[in-house]
Amino acid sequence: MGWRRPPLLLWCLFLLLSSAASLSRAATRHHEWEISYQFRSPDCARKLAVTINGQTPGPTIRATQGDTVVVRVKNSLLTENVAIHWHGIRQHGSPWSDGTEGVTQCPVLPGDTFTYTFAVDRPGTYMYHAHYGMQRSAGLNGLIVVEAAAGGPDAEPFEYDGEHAVLLNDWWHASTYEQAAGLASVPMVWVGEPQSLLINGRGRFANCSAVAAAGGACNASLPECAPPVFAVVPGKTYRFRVASVTSLSALNFEIEGHQMTVVEADGHYVKPFVVKNLNIYSGETYSVLIKADQDPNRNYWLASNVVSRKPGTPTGTAVLSYYGGRSSPRRPPPTTPPTGPSWNDTMYRFRQSVATVAHQAHIQTPPPRADRTVLLLNTQNRINGAIKWALNNVSFTLPHTPYLVAMKSGLLAAFDQRPPPETYAHQGYDIYGVQKNQNATASDGLYRLQFGSVVDVVLQNANMLAPNSSETHPWHLHGHDFWVLGYGIGRFDPAVHPASYNLKDPILKNTVAVHPYGWTALRFKADNPGVWAFHCHIEAHFFMGMGIVFEEGVERVGKLPKEIMGCGMTKGH
Ligand code: C2O
Ligand code: CU
Repeated sequence: MGWRRPPLLLWCLFLLLSSAASLSRAATRHHEWEISYQFRSPDCARKLAVTINGQTPGPTIRATQGDTVVVRVKNSLLTENVAIHWHGIRQHGSPWSDGTEGVTQCPVLPGDTFTYTFAVDRPGTYMYHAHYGMQRSAGLNGLIVVEAAAGGPDAEPFEYDGEHAVLLNDWWHASTYEQAAGLASVPMVWVGEPQSLLINGRGRFANCSAVAAAGGACNASLPECAPPVFAVVPGKTYRFRVASVTSLSALNFEIEGHQMTVVEADGHYVKPFVVKNLNIYSGETYSVLIKADQDPNRNYWLASNVVSRKPGTPTGTAVLSYYGGRSSPRRPPPTTPPTGPSWNDTMYRFRQSVATVAHQAHIQTPPPRADRTVLLLNTQNRINGAIKWALNNVSFTLPHTPYLVAMKSGLLAAFDQRPPPETYAHQGYDIYGVQKNQNATASDGLYRLQFGSVVDVVLQNANMLAPNSSETHPWHLHGHDFWVLGYGIGRFDPAVHPASYNLKDPILKNTVAVHPYGWTALRFKADNPGVWAFHCHIEAHFFMGMGIVFEEGVERVGKLPKEIMGCGMTKGH
Protein backbone atom coordinates (compact mmCIF):
# COMPACT_ATOMS: atom_id res chain seq x y z
CA MET A 1 0.00 0.00 0.00
CA GLY A 2 1.38 3.40 -1.00
CA TRP A 3 1.78 6.41 1.26
CA ARG A 4 -1.27 8.65 1.22
CA ARG A 5 -1.29 12.24 2.26
CA PRO A 6 -3.08 12.43 5.66
CA PRO A 7 -6.19 14.59 5.77
CA LEU A 8 -5.69 18.29 6.42
CA LEU A 9 -7.00 18.08 9.96
CA LEU A 10 -4.28 15.61 10.91
CA TRP A 11 -1.63 17.86 9.39
CA CYS A 12 -2.86 20.78 11.48
CA LEU A 13 -2.79 18.62 14.58
CA PHE A 14 0.74 17.52 13.80
CA LEU A 15 1.94 21.10 13.29
CA LEU A 16 0.23 22.18 16.50
CA LEU A 17 1.82 19.39 18.51
CA SER A 18 5.29 19.93 17.14
CA SER A 19 5.15 23.65 17.89
CA ALA A 20 3.91 22.90 21.41
CA ALA A 21 6.83 20.52 21.83
CA SER A 22 9.34 23.14 20.74
CA LEU A 23 7.75 25.71 23.08
CA SER A 24 8.26 23.43 26.07
CA ARG A 25 11.84 22.59 25.13
CA ALA A 26 13.64 20.70 27.85
CA ALA A 27 15.66 22.85 30.22
CA THR A 28 18.69 22.12 32.35
CA ARG A 29 18.25 23.07 36.00
CA HIS A 30 21.53 23.78 37.77
CA HIS A 31 21.94 23.67 41.53
CA GLU A 32 24.99 24.37 43.66
CA TRP A 33 24.80 22.75 47.06
CA GLU A 34 27.15 22.97 49.97
CA ILE A 35 26.61 20.30 52.60
CA SER A 36 27.59 21.29 56.12
CA TYR A 37 26.80 20.76 59.78
CA GLN A 38 24.92 23.63 61.39
CA PHE A 39 23.24 24.12 64.73
CA ARG A 40 19.53 24.00 64.08
CA SER A 41 16.42 23.84 66.25
CA PRO A 42 13.74 22.17 64.11
CA ASP A 43 11.71 21.19 67.17
CA CYS A 44 12.96 24.16 69.27
CA ALA A 45 15.76 22.01 70.78
CA ARG A 46 19.23 22.78 69.43
CA LYS A 47 21.01 20.02 67.58
CA LEU A 48 23.71 19.58 64.95
CA ALA A 49 22.01 18.96 61.63
CA VAL A 50 23.33 18.16 58.17
CA THR A 51 22.19 21.06 55.99
CA ILE A 52 22.15 22.03 52.33
CA ASN A 53 23.24 25.64 51.89
CA GLY A 54 22.41 26.03 55.57
CA GLN A 55 18.91 24.60 55.31
CA THR A 56 17.18 21.49 56.57
CA PRO A 57 15.11 20.23 54.87
CA GLY A 58 16.99 21.26 51.75
CA PRO A 59 15.56 23.34 48.91
CA THR A 60 12.79 21.83 46.80
CA ILE A 61 14.00 20.90 43.33
CA ARG A 62 11.43 22.05 40.77
CA ALA A 63 11.55 20.94 37.16
CA THR A 64 9.37 20.08 34.20
CA GLN A 65 9.10 16.61 32.73
CA GLY A 66 11.92 16.14 30.24
CA ASP A 67 14.31 18.51 32.00
CA THR A 68 17.80 17.62 33.09
CA VAL A 69 18.73 18.32 36.68
CA VAL A 70 22.35 19.03 37.57
CA VAL A 71 23.31 19.23 41.24
CA ARG A 72 26.88 20.08 42.13
CA VAL A 73 27.43 18.89 45.68
CA LYS A 74 30.31 20.18 47.76
CA ASN A 75 30.97 18.16 50.89
CA SER A 76 31.83 20.62 53.65
CA LEU A 77 31.07 18.20 56.50
CA LEU A 78 34.79 18.25 57.39
CA THR A 79 34.92 14.78 58.97
CA GLU A 80 32.17 12.87 57.21
CA ASN A 81 31.48 11.42 53.78
CA VAL A 82 28.29 12.04 51.85
CA ALA A 83 26.21 10.67 48.96
CA ILE A 84 22.75 11.84 47.82
CA HIS A 85 20.03 9.63 46.38
CA TRP A 86 17.24 10.97 44.12
CA HIS A 87 14.43 8.81 45.33
CA GLY A 88 11.90 7.89 42.63
CA ILE A 89 14.09 9.08 39.74
CA ARG A 90 14.93 6.03 37.67
CA GLN A 91 18.28 7.24 36.32
CA HIS A 92 17.80 5.87 32.81
CA GLY A 93 21.21 6.18 31.18
CA SER A 94 22.82 7.63 34.32
CA PRO A 95 23.12 4.73 36.80
CA TRP A 96 26.20 6.38 38.36
CA SER A 97 24.04 9.32 39.50
CA ASP A 98 21.80 7.24 41.76
CA GLY A 99 23.76 8.33 44.83
CA THR A 100 23.80 4.96 46.57
CA GLU A 101 27.12 4.75 48.37
CA GLY A 102 28.65 1.27 47.98
CA VAL A 103 26.30 0.38 45.12
CA THR A 104 26.68 3.05 42.45
CA GLN A 105 29.48 5.24 43.76
CA CYS A 106 32.23 5.77 46.28
CA PRO A 107 31.31 8.27 48.98
CA VAL A 108 32.11 11.92 48.38
CA LEU A 109 34.99 12.76 50.72
CA PRO A 110 35.15 15.87 52.88
CA GLY A 111 36.29 18.79 50.76
CA ASP A 112 35.40 17.02 47.50
CA THR A 113 32.77 17.96 44.97
CA PHE A 114 30.54 15.57 43.05
CA THR A 115 28.10 16.44 40.27
CA TYR A 116 24.86 14.50 39.87
CA THR A 117 23.24 14.78 36.44
CA PHE A 118 19.95 13.08 35.66
CA ALA A 119 16.82 13.44 33.55
CA VAL A 120 13.39 13.81 35.12
CA ASP A 121 11.34 11.93 32.56
CA ARG A 122 8.09 11.66 34.47
CA PRO A 123 5.94 14.18 36.30
CA GLY A 124 5.20 13.67 39.97
CA THR A 125 6.32 14.09 43.54
CA TYR A 126 9.69 12.67 44.57
CA MET A 127 12.34 13.26 47.18
CA TYR A 128 16.06 13.22 47.78
CA HIS A 129 18.07 12.26 50.80
CA ALA A 130 21.51 11.21 51.97
CA HIS A 131 22.40 7.58 51.23
CA TYR A 132 25.47 7.18 53.37
CA GLY A 133 25.38 5.49 56.79
CA MET A 134 22.41 6.84 58.71
CA GLN A 135 22.96 10.38 57.50
CA ARG A 136 19.45 10.83 56.10
CA SER A 137 18.07 11.17 59.61
CA ALA A 138 20.53 13.95 60.42
CA GLY A 139 18.56 16.32 58.18
CA LEU A 140 19.83 15.86 54.63
CA ASN A 141 16.54 15.50 52.78
CA GLY A 142 14.10 17.41 50.60
CA LEU A 143 11.49 17.30 47.84
CA ILE A 144 11.60 17.00 44.05
CA VAL A 145 8.53 18.29 42.22
CA VAL A 146 8.28 17.55 38.51
CA GLU A 147 5.52 19.28 36.54
CA ALA A 148 3.85 17.47 33.66
CA ALA A 149 4.86 18.73 30.22
CA ALA A 150 2.02 20.97 29.01
CA GLY A 151 -0.41 19.15 26.75
CA GLY A 152 1.56 15.92 26.97
CA PRO A 153 0.15 12.43 27.58
CA ASP A 154 1.07 12.61 31.26
CA ALA A 155 -1.03 15.70 32.02
CA GLU A 156 -2.85 15.35 35.35
CA PRO A 157 -6.30 13.76 35.16
CA PHE A 158 -7.53 16.15 37.88
CA GLU A 159 -7.79 19.87 38.49
CA TYR A 160 -6.81 22.18 41.29
CA ASP A 161 -6.38 25.88 41.95
CA GLY A 162 -3.22 25.86 44.05
CA GLU A 163 -0.75 23.53 45.67
CA HIS A 164 1.15 23.01 48.89
CA ALA A 165 3.97 20.64 49.78
CA VAL A 166 4.18 18.71 53.04
CA LEU A 167 7.41 16.91 53.93
CA LEU A 168 6.98 14.62 56.93
CA ASN A 169 9.82 13.45 59.14
CA ASP A 170 10.66 12.08 62.55
CA TRP A 171 13.43 13.61 64.66
CA TRP A 172 15.78 12.48 67.44
CA HIS A 173 18.04 14.49 69.68
CA ALA A 174 20.68 11.73 69.74
CA SER A 175 23.18 12.05 66.90
CA THR A 176 23.15 9.55 64.06
CA TYR A 177 26.61 8.37 65.25
CA GLU A 178 25.18 7.52 68.62
CA GLN A 179 22.24 5.78 66.98
CA ALA A 180 24.40 3.76 64.58
CA ALA A 181 26.88 2.75 67.29
CA GLY A 182 23.94 1.68 69.46
CA LEU A 183 22.52 -0.54 66.71
CA ALA A 184 25.87 -2.27 66.23
CA SER A 185 26.49 -2.81 69.97
CA VAL A 186 26.02 -6.09 71.84
CA PRO A 187 23.59 -5.84 73.51
CA MET A 188 21.95 -3.40 71.16
CA VAL A 189 21.36 0.12 72.46
CA TRP A 190 18.09 1.25 70.93
CA VAL A 191 17.50 4.99 70.61
CA GLY A 192 13.75 4.64 71.20
CA GLU A 193 10.89 6.53 69.63
CA PRO A 194 11.56 9.95 68.06
CA GLN A 195 11.40 13.07 70.22
CA SER A 196 9.34 14.96 67.64
CA LEU A 197 7.50 14.68 64.36
CA LEU A 198 8.38 17.39 61.85
CA ILE A 199 6.25 18.97 59.13
CA ASN A 200 8.40 20.85 56.62
CA GLY A 201 11.27 20.70 59.09
CA ARG A 202 9.38 22.09 62.07
CA GLY A 203 7.99 20.50 65.20
CA ARG A 204 7.59 21.10 68.92
CA PHE A 205 9.58 19.18 71.48
CA ALA A 206 7.13 18.42 74.30
CA ASN A 207 9.66 18.82 77.14
CA CYS A 208 11.23 22.04 75.92
CA SER A 209 10.55 24.04 79.06
CA ALA A 210 12.00 21.32 81.31
CA VAL A 211 15.13 21.17 79.16
CA ALA A 212 15.43 24.96 79.16
CA ALA A 213 14.92 25.11 82.95
CA ALA A 214 17.77 22.63 83.38
CA GLY A 215 20.02 24.92 81.33
CA GLY A 216 19.61 23.00 78.04
CA ALA A 217 19.29 24.58 74.63
CA CYS A 218 15.57 24.61 73.96
CA ASN A 219 13.57 27.73 73.20
CA ALA A 220 9.89 27.30 72.35
CA SER A 221 9.57 30.86 71.03
CA LEU A 222 12.16 30.56 68.25
CA PRO A 223 10.62 31.50 64.87
CA GLU A 224 12.58 28.53 63.44
CA CYS A 225 10.22 26.09 65.18
CA ALA A 226 6.96 28.02 64.80
CA PRO A 227 4.30 25.77 63.26
CA PRO A 228 4.14 26.02 59.45
CA VAL A 229 1.00 27.71 58.12
CA PHE A 230 -0.77 26.54 54.96
CA ALA A 231 -3.04 29.26 53.62
CA VAL A 232 -6.03 28.56 51.39
CA VAL A 233 -8.65 30.69 49.61
CA PRO A 234 -12.22 29.78 50.52
CA GLY A 235 -13.94 27.64 47.90
CA LYS A 236 -10.74 26.65 46.08
CA THR A 237 -9.31 23.18 45.57
CA TYR A 238 -5.72 22.44 46.61
CA ARG A 239 -3.27 19.75 45.75
CA PHE A 240 -1.20 18.76 48.77
CA ARG A 241 1.95 16.89 47.82
CA VAL A 242 2.79 14.75 50.84
CA ALA A 243 6.10 12.93 51.21
CA SER A 244 7.63 10.98 54.09
CA VAL A 245 11.37 10.82 54.72
CA THR A 246 11.03 9.35 58.22
CA SER A 247 13.82 7.17 59.58
CA LEU A 248 11.53 4.87 61.50
CA SER A 249 7.92 5.95 61.78
CA ALA A 250 4.95 4.95 59.69
CA LEU A 251 2.67 7.98 59.78
CA ASN A 252 -0.95 8.91 59.47
CA PHE A 253 -1.56 12.37 58.03
CA GLU A 254 -4.78 14.32 58.44
CA ILE A 255 -6.14 17.78 57.74
CA GLU A 256 -8.75 18.41 60.39
CA GLY A 257 -12.27 18.83 58.99
CA HIS A 258 -11.20 18.27 55.37
CA GLN A 259 -11.58 15.06 53.43
CA MET A 260 -8.78 14.15 51.07
CA THR A 261 -9.02 12.62 47.61
CA VAL A 262 -5.93 10.55 46.83
CA VAL A 263 -4.83 11.23 43.22
CA GLU A 264 -1.10 10.45 42.97
CA ALA A 265 1.23 7.90 44.50
CA ASP A 266 5.01 7.84 43.85
CA GLY A 267 4.58 9.77 40.59
CA HIS A 268 1.66 7.72 39.23
CA TYR A 269 -1.96 8.76 38.94
CA VAL A 270 -4.31 6.92 41.24
CA LYS A 271 -7.95 6.00 40.67
CA PRO A 272 -9.29 8.68 43.02
CA PHE A 273 -10.55 7.63 46.43
CA VAL A 274 -11.60 9.68 49.42
CA VAL A 275 -10.10 9.32 52.90
CA LYS A 276 -10.35 11.14 56.20
CA ASN A 277 -6.64 10.58 56.74
CA LEU A 278 -3.71 9.14 54.81
CA ASN A 279 -1.32 6.39 55.88
CA ILE A 280 2.13 7.14 54.53
CA TYR A 281 5.30 5.09 54.92
CA SER A 282 8.88 6.23 54.70
CA GLY A 283 9.88 6.70 51.07
CA GLU A 284 6.34 7.16 49.79
CA THR A 285 4.81 10.25 48.21
CA TYR A 286 1.15 11.03 47.60
CA SER A 287 -0.87 13.89 46.23
CA VAL A 288 -4.26 14.53 47.77
CA LEU A 289 -6.88 17.10 46.78
CA ILE A 290 -8.77 19.03 49.42
CA LYS A 291 -11.56 21.54 49.02
CA ALA A 292 -11.35 24.67 51.19
CA ASP A 293 -15.03 24.49 52.05
CA GLN A 294 -15.08 24.81 55.85
CA ASP A 295 -15.79 27.78 58.13
CA PRO A 296 -13.07 30.27 57.11
CA ASN A 297 -13.19 32.07 60.46
CA ARG A 298 -11.18 29.49 62.34
CA ASN A 299 -7.97 27.54 61.74
CA TYR A 300 -7.55 23.77 61.37
CA TRP A 301 -4.81 21.34 62.32
CA LEU A 302 -2.59 19.44 59.98
CA ALA A 303 -1.62 16.42 62.05
CA SER A 304 0.88 13.61 61.67
CA ASN A 305 0.68 10.64 64.04
CA VAL A 306 2.77 7.49 64.44
CA VAL A 307 1.02 4.27 63.44
CA SER A 308 2.17 0.64 63.35
CA ARG A 309 4.51 1.11 66.34
CA LYS A 310 3.23 2.01 69.80
CA PRO A 311 3.54 5.80 69.69
CA GLY A 312 5.95 7.49 72.08
CA THR A 313 5.92 10.82 70.25
CA PRO A 314 3.34 13.61 70.39
CA THR A 315 1.34 14.51 67.28
CA GLY A 316 3.25 16.60 64.74
CA THR A 317 1.23 19.69 63.86
CA ALA A 318 0.89 22.58 61.43
CA VAL A 319 -1.95 25.02 60.75
CA LEU A 320 -4.42 25.37 57.87
CA SER A 321 -5.73 28.92 57.66
CA TYR A 322 -8.24 30.59 55.34
CA TYR A 323 -7.44 33.89 53.60
CA GLY A 324 -9.97 36.55 54.52
CA GLY A 325 -11.17 34.63 57.57
CA ARG A 326 -11.35 36.26 60.98
CA SER A 327 -8.67 34.04 62.53
CA SER A 328 -5.06 35.13 62.45
CA PRO A 329 -2.97 32.55 60.59
CA ARG A 330 -0.68 32.21 63.60
CA ARG A 331 -3.48 31.35 65.99
CA PRO A 332 -3.71 27.72 67.08
CA PRO A 333 -6.99 26.05 66.12
CA PRO A 334 -9.59 25.94 68.92
CA THR A 335 -9.56 22.14 69.04
CA THR A 336 -7.09 19.48 70.12
CA PRO A 337 -5.12 18.05 67.18
CA PRO A 338 -6.50 14.83 65.63
CA THR A 339 -4.82 11.71 67.01
CA GLY A 340 -5.40 9.55 63.93
CA PRO A 341 -6.66 5.95 63.82
CA SER A 342 -5.54 3.51 66.49
CA TRP A 343 -1.87 2.74 65.96
CA ASN A 344 -2.31 -1.03 65.80
CA ASP A 345 -5.26 -1.16 63.40
CA THR A 346 -3.39 -3.04 60.67
CA MET A 347 -6.50 -3.80 58.63
CA TYR A 348 -7.29 -0.09 58.36
CA ARG A 349 -3.93 0.53 56.73
CA PHE A 350 -4.11 -2.66 54.69
CA ARG A 351 -7.38 -1.50 53.11
CA GLN A 352 -5.85 1.80 52.02
CA SER A 353 -2.96 -0.09 50.42
CA VAL A 354 -5.36 -2.30 48.48
CA ALA A 355 -7.46 0.71 47.41
CA THR A 356 -4.46 2.35 45.73
CA VAL A 357 -4.76 1.31 42.07
CA ALA A 358 -4.00 3.02 38.75
CA HIS A 359 -6.18 5.77 37.33
CA GLN A 360 -8.39 4.31 34.58
CA ALA A 361 -6.89 6.58 31.91
CA HIS A 362 -3.30 5.86 32.98
CA ILE A 363 -3.15 2.12 33.33
CA GLN A 364 0.12 0.53 32.25
CA THR A 365 -0.70 -3.14 32.00
CA PRO A 366 1.93 -5.39 33.58
CA PRO A 367 3.43 -8.31 31.68
CA PRO A 368 1.12 -11.30 32.24
CA ARG A 369 3.76 -13.50 33.85
CA ALA A 370 7.18 -13.42 35.42
CA ASP A 371 10.36 -15.08 34.19
CA ARG A 372 11.63 -15.41 37.73
CA THR A 373 10.18 -15.17 41.22
CA VAL A 374 12.20 -14.24 44.28
CA LEU A 375 10.54 -15.01 47.61
CA LEU A 376 12.00 -13.02 50.49
CA LEU A 377 11.33 -13.86 54.13
CA ASN A 378 11.80 -10.75 56.32
CA THR A 379 13.16 -11.67 59.74
CA GLN A 380 15.08 -10.28 62.64
CA ASN A 381 18.14 -12.42 63.41
CA ARG A 382 21.40 -12.53 65.26
CA ILE A 383 24.99 -12.62 64.06
CA ASN A 384 27.56 -13.09 66.85
CA GLY A 385 25.06 -11.75 69.34
CA ALA A 386 24.30 -8.58 67.38
CA ILE A 387 20.74 -8.05 66.19
CA LYS A 388 20.34 -7.93 62.41
CA TRP A 389 17.63 -7.97 59.80
CA ALA A 390 17.79 -10.63 57.12
CA LEU A 391 16.16 -11.88 53.92
CA ASN A 392 16.01 -15.65 53.77
CA ASN A 393 18.43 -15.56 56.71
CA VAL A 394 21.02 -13.52 54.82
CA SER A 395 21.81 -10.11 56.25
CA PHE A 396 23.06 -7.58 53.73
CA THR A 397 26.33 -5.71 54.06
CA LEU A 398 27.61 -3.04 51.69
CA PRO A 399 30.90 -3.80 49.92
CA HIS A 400 33.78 -1.33 50.09
CA THR A 401 33.97 -1.20 46.31
CA PRO A 402 30.74 -0.04 44.66
CA TYR A 403 29.16 -2.88 42.66
CA LEU A 404 28.78 -0.74 39.57
CA VAL A 405 32.50 -0.08 39.40
CA ALA A 406 33.49 -3.60 40.47
CA MET A 407 31.33 -5.23 37.82
CA LYS A 408 32.37 -2.92 35.00
CA SER A 409 36.04 -3.40 35.91
CA GLY A 410 35.82 -7.16 36.46
CA LEU A 411 36.92 -6.91 40.10
CA LEU A 412 35.54 -10.29 41.12
CA ALA A 413 37.12 -10.21 44.56
CA ALA A 414 35.25 -7.02 45.45
CA PHE A 415 32.16 -8.86 46.66
CA ASP A 416 30.76 -12.33 47.34
CA GLN A 417 30.17 -13.97 43.96
CA ARG A 418 27.70 -16.51 45.34
CA PRO A 419 24.14 -15.39 44.63
CA PRO A 420 21.85 -14.97 47.67
CA PRO A 421 18.95 -17.43 48.12
CA GLU A 422 15.87 -17.13 45.87
CA THR A 423 13.46 -18.55 48.42
CA TYR A 424 13.08 -20.07 51.88
CA ALA A 425 11.33 -23.15 53.28
CA HIS A 426 7.94 -21.48 53.01
CA GLN A 427 5.78 -24.58 53.24
CA GLY A 428 6.07 -25.26 56.92
CA TYR A 429 7.20 -21.82 58.04
CA ASP A 430 5.27 -20.40 60.99
CA ILE A 431 5.28 -16.65 60.38
CA TYR A 432 3.51 -16.03 63.69
CA GLY A 433 6.13 -17.73 65.83
CA VAL A 434 9.61 -16.67 66.90
CA GLN A 435 12.05 -18.06 64.33
CA LYS A 436 13.67 -21.31 65.49
CA ASN A 437 17.05 -20.77 63.86
CA GLN A 438 17.83 -17.16 64.66
CA ASN A 439 21.31 -17.17 63.20
CA ALA A 440 21.86 -15.39 59.93
CA THR A 441 24.88 -15.08 57.69
CA ALA A 442 26.18 -11.76 56.39
CA SER A 443 26.73 -11.33 52.67
CA ASP A 444 27.35 -8.69 50.04
CA GLY A 445 26.32 -10.98 47.18
CA LEU A 446 23.80 -9.70 44.65
CA TYR A 447 21.04 -10.96 42.38
CA ARG A 448 21.95 -10.90 38.70
CA LEU A 449 18.89 -10.46 36.50
CA GLN A 450 18.57 -11.33 32.84
CA PHE A 451 18.34 -8.03 30.98
CA GLY A 452 14.75 -7.38 29.89
CA SER A 453 13.30 -10.17 32.00
CA VAL A 454 10.22 -9.85 34.18
CA VAL A 455 10.86 -10.36 37.87
CA ASP A 456 8.38 -10.99 40.67
CA VAL A 457 9.38 -10.33 44.25
CA VAL A 458 7.21 -11.50 47.12
CA LEU A 459 8.07 -10.01 50.48
CA GLN A 460 6.89 -12.14 53.36
CA ASN A 461 6.72 -10.52 56.78
CA ALA A 462 7.05 -12.59 59.94
CA ASN A 463 7.48 -12.42 63.68
CA MET A 464 10.50 -10.59 65.12
CA LEU A 465 12.83 -11.87 67.84
CA ALA A 466 10.32 -10.90 70.53
CA PRO A 467 7.06 -12.90 70.59
CA ASN A 468 3.88 -11.34 69.19
CA SER A 469 5.60 -8.59 67.26
CA SER A 470 5.81 -7.83 63.59
CA GLU A 471 6.25 -4.38 62.14
CA THR A 472 5.59 -2.63 58.85
CA HIS A 473 8.50 -2.48 56.39
CA PRO A 474 8.37 0.04 53.52
CA TRP A 475 10.41 -1.52 50.69
CA HIS A 476 11.98 0.78 48.12
CA LEU A 477 13.42 -0.18 44.73
CA HIS A 478 16.03 1.99 43.04
CA GLY A 479 16.07 2.45 39.26
CA HIS A 480 12.53 1.22 38.60
CA ASP A 481 8.89 1.45 39.38
CA PHE A 482 7.16 -1.85 40.11
CA TRP A 483 3.59 -2.98 39.77
CA VAL A 484 1.97 -3.78 43.10
CA LEU A 485 0.20 -7.04 42.28
CA GLY A 486 -1.20 -7.98 45.64
CA TYR A 487 -1.18 -7.87 49.41
CA GLY A 488 -2.15 -10.44 51.98
CA ILE A 489 -2.09 -11.07 55.70
CA GLY A 490 -0.69 -14.46 56.69
CA ARG A 491 1.58 -16.88 54.89
CA PHE A 492 2.04 -16.45 51.16
CA ASP A 493 1.44 -19.62 49.18
CA PRO A 494 3.02 -19.58 45.71
CA ALA A 495 0.55 -22.27 44.59
CA VAL A 496 -2.49 -20.21 45.56
CA HIS A 497 -2.05 -16.47 45.83
CA PRO A 498 -0.69 -15.52 42.39
CA ALA A 499 -4.13 -16.41 40.99
CA SER A 500 -5.53 -13.41 42.87
CA TYR A 501 -2.97 -10.88 41.59
CA ASN A 502 -4.33 -7.65 40.19
CA LEU A 503 -3.13 -7.67 36.57
CA LYS A 504 -5.88 -5.30 35.45
CA ASP A 505 -5.07 -1.94 37.00
CA PRO A 506 -2.19 -2.28 39.49
CA ILE A 507 -0.50 0.94 40.57
CA LEU A 508 3.16 1.48 39.73
CA LYS A 509 5.20 2.59 42.74
CA ASN A 510 8.77 2.71 43.95
CA THR A 511 8.03 2.11 47.64
CA VAL A 512 5.48 -0.24 49.13
CA ALA A 513 4.47 -1.39 52.59
CA VAL A 514 4.69 -4.95 53.81
CA HIS A 515 2.18 -5.06 56.64
CA PRO A 516 2.69 -6.90 59.96
CA TYR A 517 2.48 -10.68 59.38
CA GLY A 518 1.59 -9.87 55.78
CA TRP A 519 3.01 -10.27 52.31
CA THR A 520 3.28 -7.99 49.31
CA ALA A 521 3.85 -9.12 45.72
CA LEU A 522 5.39 -6.87 43.10
CA ARG A 523 6.59 -7.17 39.51
CA PHE A 524 9.11 -5.19 37.51
CA LYS A 525 10.95 -5.33 34.24
CA ALA A 526 14.73 -5.57 34.53
CA ASP A 527 15.25 -3.08 31.72
CA ASN A 528 17.44 -0.39 33.26
CA PRO A 529 21.15 -1.17 32.84
CA GLY A 530 22.88 -0.72 36.17
CA VAL A 531 23.06 -1.93 39.73
CA TRP A 532 20.13 -1.14 41.98
CA ALA A 533 19.45 -1.37 45.68
CA PHE A 534 16.17 -2.73 46.99
CA HIS A 535 15.75 -2.24 50.71
CA CYS A 536 13.60 -1.44 53.67
CA HIS A 537 13.38 2.35 53.92
CA ILE A 538 13.59 2.33 57.71
CA GLU A 539 17.09 3.75 58.21
CA ALA A 540 17.95 1.43 61.11
CA HIS A 541 16.67 -1.67 59.28
CA PHE A 542 18.77 -1.10 56.18
CA PHE A 543 21.74 -0.35 58.41
CA MET A 544 21.13 -3.74 60.09
CA GLY A 545 21.06 -5.62 56.78
CA MET A 546 17.51 -5.35 55.45
CA GLY A 547 18.22 -5.02 51.77
CA ILE A 548 19.38 -6.72 48.61
CA VAL A 549 20.88 -5.54 45.31
CA PHE A 550 19.93 -6.33 41.71
CA GLU A 551 22.21 -6.13 38.69
CA GLU A 552 20.87 -6.03 35.14
CA GLY A 553 22.48 -5.26 31.80
CA VAL A 554 25.62 -3.89 33.40
CA GLU A 555 27.47 -4.69 30.15
CA ARG A 556 25.29 -2.07 28.45
CA VAL A 557 26.36 0.69 30.82
CA GLY A 558 28.66 3.18 29.09
CA LYS A 559 32.00 4.42 30.33
CA LEU A 560 31.82 5.22 34.03
CA PRO A 561 32.76 8.69 35.25
CA LYS A 562 35.95 8.41 37.27
CA GLU A 563 34.43 10.61 40.01
CA ILE A 564 32.45 7.62 41.30
CA MET A 565 35.70 5.69 41.92
CA GLY A 566 38.55 6.04 44.37
CA CYS A 567 37.53 3.72 47.20
CA GLY A 568 37.97 0.02 48.00
CA MET A 569 39.63 -1.83 45.12
CA THR A 570 39.28 1.20 42.85
CA LYS A 571 41.85 3.29 44.69
CA GLY A 572 44.17 4.86 42.18
CA HIS A 573 41.70 4.48 39.32
CU1 C2O B 1 14.98 6.64 49.60
CU2 C2O B 1 17.75 3.63 48.96
O1 C2O B 1 16.36 5.10 49.44
CU1 CU C 1 12.11 -2.57 57.90
